[in-house]
Amino acid sequence: MHGKVVVITGATSGIGEVAAQRLAAMGARMVLVARDKERGEAALTRLRSGTSLAHSIHYGDLSRISEMKRLAAQIAAAERRIDVLINNAGAIFGSRQVTEDNLELTFATNHLAYFVLTLGLRERLFASAPARIVNTASGAHKGRVLDFDDLQSTKGYSAMNVYGRSKLCNILFTRELSRRWSGSGITVNCLHPGFVATRFGDGSGGLLSYGVRLAKTIAISPEKGAQTLIYLASSPDVAGVSGEYFYQCRPATPTQEARDDAAAKRLWIESAKLEAGPK
Ligand SMILES: NC(=O)c1ccc[n+]([C@@H]2O[C@H](COP(=O)([O-])OP(=O)(O)OC[C@H]3O[C@@H](n4cnc5c(N)ncnc54)[C@H](OP(=O)(O)O)[C@@H]3O)[C@@H](O)[C@H]2O)c1
Repeated sequence: MHGKVVVITGATSGIGEVAAQRLAAMGARMVLVARDKERGEAALTRLRSGTSLAHSIHYGDLSRISEMKRLAAQIAAAERRIDVLINNAGAIFGSRQVTEDNLELTFATNHLAYFVLTLGLRERLFASAPARIVNTASGAHKGRVLDFDDLQSTKGYSAMNVYGRSKLCNILFTRELSRRWSGSGITVNCLHPGFVATRFGDGSGGLLSYGVRLAKTIAISPEKGAQTLIYLASSPDVAGVSGEYFYQCRPATPTQEARDDAAAKRLWIESAKLEAGPK
């Protein structure tokens, strides 16, 4: 990874932070995207203590479209090339919340941010080809189906269902992006990290955070959970692989709903409309 520039979201804790540290140790210069100054500076300090590279950080809230776009523009202005983009920031919320763009918070943070940030960095990625995009998805997509008439979950809200659907979006986005950008020299893959003991779910509220905390007693470590992320970002084994879903550093088969190319196309169109904003 010497000489490579890696942009990563959600690296203030959990699997994102472990991945950032390991990739930096391999020689990559890391560009972090974080929302909280205190956690961001702490993560950057930990990262800098391990290597002498000029790692950097950009701040913004990835649940807001204007911020996703500003972050992409800011990173594109600062970095001449981007060899790897890792879309990893994500969360689960115990109750339905709406962003200032009138979007359901899980959908905005876990799916739309991947879409807007990636498209905003398109020029830099193309100029750096061969380049890679890695999207953190989840096995939680299993059993979930997208409702295109209600992407914002206005009809009913179940945290696990809405979270699972956002992770289904990650896989569909990976497939469609890979198809659209085929021949560009940019590969796009996604992954399930396993059930990992991170800060995930801690702030989700009420019974859900209690349940997640309890379940984490049997979860794997962030070091283990980050392995597939690191593998997809750096291994020569997957240099020519694109559009796949990985688990434990091996290609895996996601559900039929996650392999639905018509749904992937439709999701792209709906996401592009949201990105463009009201006419
Ligand atoms: N843990 C698991 O078992 C598991 C399983 C499958 C998939 N995943 C996925 O793995 C990814 C990483 O999660 P993790 O387990 O490492 O959890 P984590 O420790 O909670 O890390 C989540 C990261 O996302 C950032 N983030 C959340 N909302 C954000 C926003 N609006 N703007 C900017 N950054 C934001 C957090 O920043 P702050 O520090 O500011 O909170 C943090 O850096 C997520 O996509 C998650 O869905 C996790």
